[in-house]
Amino acid sequence: MRRILLFLLFITPAVLSHAITDPYICVNTDNTCIILHINEDNRLMFMHYGLKVGDTGQYTGYNSYRRIDYGTDPMAYPTRGGRFYNEPALSVKYSDNDVNTELEYISHTISDIRPGVTQTSIIMQDPKTSLEVRLVYISYSKEDVIVAHTEITNKGNKEVTLENYASSAINIKAGKYLLTHFHGAWASEMQLAQEVLTHGTKIIDNKMGVRTTHTENPSFLLSLDTENFNENHGEVIAGALAWSGNYKLAFQVDEFERLSILCGINPYNSTYPLRKGQTFTTPDMIWTFSSAGAGQASRNLHNWARNYGIYSKGKMAPTLLNSWEGAYFDFTTPVLTGMIDDAANMGLEMFVLDDGWFGTDFPRNSNQQGLGDWQLNTKKIPEGISYLADYAHHKGLKFGIWIEPEMVNPKSNLARKHPEWVVKSEGRQVTTTRNQWILDLCNPQVQDFVFNVFDETMKLAINKIDYIKWDCNRHVESLGSAYLKNQSEFYINYIQGLYSVLKRIREKYPNVIVQSCSSGGGRVDYGALGYFDEVWTSDNTEGLSRIFIQYGTNMIYPACTTGSHVSAVPSHQTNNVTPLKFRFDIAAAGRLGMELQPKAMTTEEYQFAQKAIASYRTYRDLVENGDLYRLISPYDGNHYALMYVSKDKNRAVVFAYCIKYQGRTKTPLVRMYGLDKNKSYKVTELNTTAPSFWGDTKTFSGEWLINQGMNPQLVKLYDSGIWYLQAE
Ligand code: GLA
Repeated sequence: MRRILLFLLFITPAVLSHAITDPYICVNTDNTCIILHINEDNRLMFMHYGLKVGDTGQYTGYNSYRRIDYGTDPMAYPTRGGRFYNEPALSVKYSDNDVNTELEYISHTISDIRPGVTQTSIIMQDPKTSLEVRLVYISYSKEDVIVAHTEITNKGNKEVTLENYASSAINIKAGKYLLTHFHGAWASEMQLAQEVLTHGTKIIDNKMGVRTTHTENPSFLLSLDTENFNENHGEVIAGALAWSGNYKLAFQVDEFERLSILCGINPYNSTYPLRKGQTFTTPDMIWTFSSAGAGQASRNLHNWARNYGIYSKGKMAPTLLNSWEGAYFDFTTPVLTGMIDDAANMGLEMFVLDDGWFGTDFPRNSNQQGLGDWQLNTKKIPEGISYLADYAHHKGLKFGIWIEPEMVNPKSNLARKHPEWVVKSEGRQVTTTRNQWILDLCNPQVQDFVFNVFDETMKLAINKIDYIKWDCNRHVESLGSAYLKNQSEFYINYIQGLYSVLKRIREKYPNVIVQSCSSGGGRVDYGALGYFDEVWTSDNTEGLSRIFIQYGTNMIYPACTTGSHVSAVPSHQTNNVTPLKFRFDIAAAGRLGMELQPKAMTTEEYQFAQKAIASYRTYRDLVENGDLYRLISPYDGNHYALMYVSKDKNRAVVFAYCIKYQGRTKTPLVRMYGLDKNKSYKVTELNTTAPSFWGDTKTFSGEWLINQGMNPQLVKLYDSGIWYLQAE
């Protein structure tokens, strides 16, 4: 018997260890854990998410003191049914009209996927209907990140209907819950919204279908036991859903002051039929827990993203000049080669040809027509894309080009040829946004078309296109797919269709850099970033607006993903006029680029740009890979400051800005929390002839810079500075 037990222990350690002794399942990272409990009724309950609690044996005899005849304690994956009455993660309608699901634990396995990455997979089943649910938690030890998803399989004999099918649920108890989330609109994305949760359910969601992050981002931070957001202290949970379609994050504070968080695809018009034998896999939900404030929560997400979550694995795109705000649709070859000359002279590394290069019968000379007809407009560029790419390469630049393959203008050959590919409901008006319709990516023929747009564009200059800017300039309205029988599958199938096209593209073009643009800010999520190298953070390139947009975006997504360009003044988006230095100093806190006509710059501006670009190249590895510390919040008043620190804390770059005039003697206090207190650092202000800190080029201890801090004389509106710190 003992030998058999030992054998079983060898082949299925986790399953057996539970069967014999241990009713607890621990999903561990280096510092945190989720603890689940298989109770006496074989239900999987949620015990803990936070710092490690030690030996789970200590839970023996645990009593929640909850009435046993009234509802249930928190479940790991709450379902509609039985005694459960709160917001469910899963609700299913069965063919006999039963609407209850009651999952019982069946088994679990724990396996190492690669060093530092462990997968815990738990199978549960509804005994009456045989619906099977597999909860999968992948834990990333070093990053303190747990990525969860759910697989729902219909093991019964009849089709069932999924009504809610969240990716992941957690349940915690704290004295207070301060929720930070990111609302916005086109050209003002990722603005901070903060509120202390009260009883009831707070929902953050989106129903726009295909570009869902202008108005709200599927991510949040939750500070526990406090009403105050703190960068460096306190417990914080952060989460981000990896899905580019409709999503829903629900935060319910219940009658016991417990907070349940459910995250996943938005059930809005998305009941999903699950045929016999079919499995539905939800998107990933990325969780992290920090006991050292919001800053550490962001850094955990950034570390995970750079190691696993972004297609580029954290490699930042080159500095670039984009043609859009400098030329819009109005260019010919000499305009573009002139821009390439200037990009090279200024020290940039890539030229990106934006919208306007295609369309023959309906030339794309404005946003009124041409989308869908991806043939070169030879009137504008008779020499061909290959010529431009060669021109750029000979100047030492990479070459990129813009596409928007999911869209079609009514005025195009494509719209005439394939009206059935357009998202619309027969007999109703088809709405246009920016004069365009959206193609139905649920349809495999459209998926092939979209793949081919990318492929054919790449073939316009074989092996010479280094970067594609993938745009998506409208959301879904007038929903309807001629291809689908069941319109409630649209939102899911569209995004799955998009991902499957992107997967094919990545198989064929693993090394081309691809930007997720979507009107700037419209597809900023970890679902998209699994295929894209970076995002176009916002169409708003104006410096002051960018402070807030980048501050919010980089709370969840690392700076290496966020394209940020210097553009002309008055700003085309806000009319605001800011100094060139201010614009450079904020763009340099992300992936730096320019988006203007260099020929319109003065000699002085041009020379400043050359210096700013050269100095960026000396510290950009810190922007790319360094740890972000937010030093002063732009929401706290007059200044904004942040720093990136190398992992060994030997080098750092600090950025600070005056964003509101208060008084000529009111200097900011920039405490450099990311430094090592035991090292000494030489502080040098970059890219200026008039340093704003009295200690310029002096050496200070880390202890001094952290606890006393620097007080640069940034007192006038739009004063700004960048400091390079080198340990000595
Ligand atoms: C969108 C993008 C811009 C630009 C235009 C081109 O608005 O966000 O950057 O590419 O489309 O039409």
